[in-house]
Amino acid sequence: MPTSKDSTTGAIERFVAEVRQRIEAARSDAEFLSLSRGWMTASFQRKYSYNFSWMGRPVIQYPQDMIAMQEIVWEVKPELIIETGIAHGGSLVYYASLLQLIGQGEVVGIDIDIREHNRVAIERHPMASRIRMIEGSSVAPEVVARVEALAAGHSPVLIVLDSNHTHEHVLAELRAYANLVTVGSYCVVFDTVVEDLPADFFGDRPWGVGDSPRTAVQAFLAEDGHFEIDRGIDAKLGITVAAGGYLRRIR
Ligand SMILES: C[S@@+](CC[C@H](N)C(=O)[O-])C[C@H]1O[C@@H](n2cnc3c(N)ncnc32)[C@H](O)[C@@H]1O
Repeated sequence: MPTSKDSTTGAIERFVAEVRQRIEAARSDAEFLSLSRGWMTASFQRKYSYNFSWMGRPVIQYPQDMIAMQEIVWEVKPELIIETGIAHGGSLVYYASLLQLIGQGEVVGIDIDIREHNRVAIERHPMASRIRMIEGSSVAPEVVARVEALAAGHSPVLIVLDSNHTHEHVLAELRAYANLVTVGSYCVVFDTVVEDLPADFFGDRPWGVGDSPRTAVQAFLAEDGHFEIDRGIDAKLGITVAAGGYLRRIR
């Protein structure tokens, strides 16, 4: 005689299976992929990623990627999140708030230029006790050494790369930080979308098509066998700046 617990478990399993099937179908849904890509270009042209904030701090992200990050943080429950690229601090506050809800963990943010007004606002924020900031280039040996010392003994560790988006810089960040990611956790490389945008889109930016976070990821994956791209995240989001950039450590 099935119990109500059995039927609850069955209902949840069916729901999870349906979600999985839908995501699998999205991977080869040419119409949806094409619409999503077109919308990404249109939204980039309109600086959409600057429209949002989290708990009062501007966050330069697409909400879809923030939900994906929430799912990762809940699944991994990192003791330490390391993010390169602070800007106004919205993403640091976001990760800190998720860790606050989970009840454990700290975020380390690195930026080459932490503006005084941003530093003050982050330091005064209700989530500040879970946030530590380092000023300096994310690839400077002394900064990498400080981060390695902070990460020592922590597990799980999650890395987010969102600073300078050139191939050379992102590849150097991957080489410096990916080894800190614990097995089962992620190294998330933002703005791989640069590669999908029109070639003349970036004007005076040092990055562009052919010199982007995605080309850096490709070079890194060719030399390092510890990660695989989580394509399920790309497929479920459709709208994302990090397609091919959700790297899961598998060994
Ligand atoms: C896209 S913004 C970061 C956005 C932030 N993660 C968010 O979600 O709101 C990029 C930041 O990277 C920083 N940056 C640029 N080059 C850097 C470097 N070599 N090392 C560390 N940070 C750098 C910039 O100062 C800028 O604040």
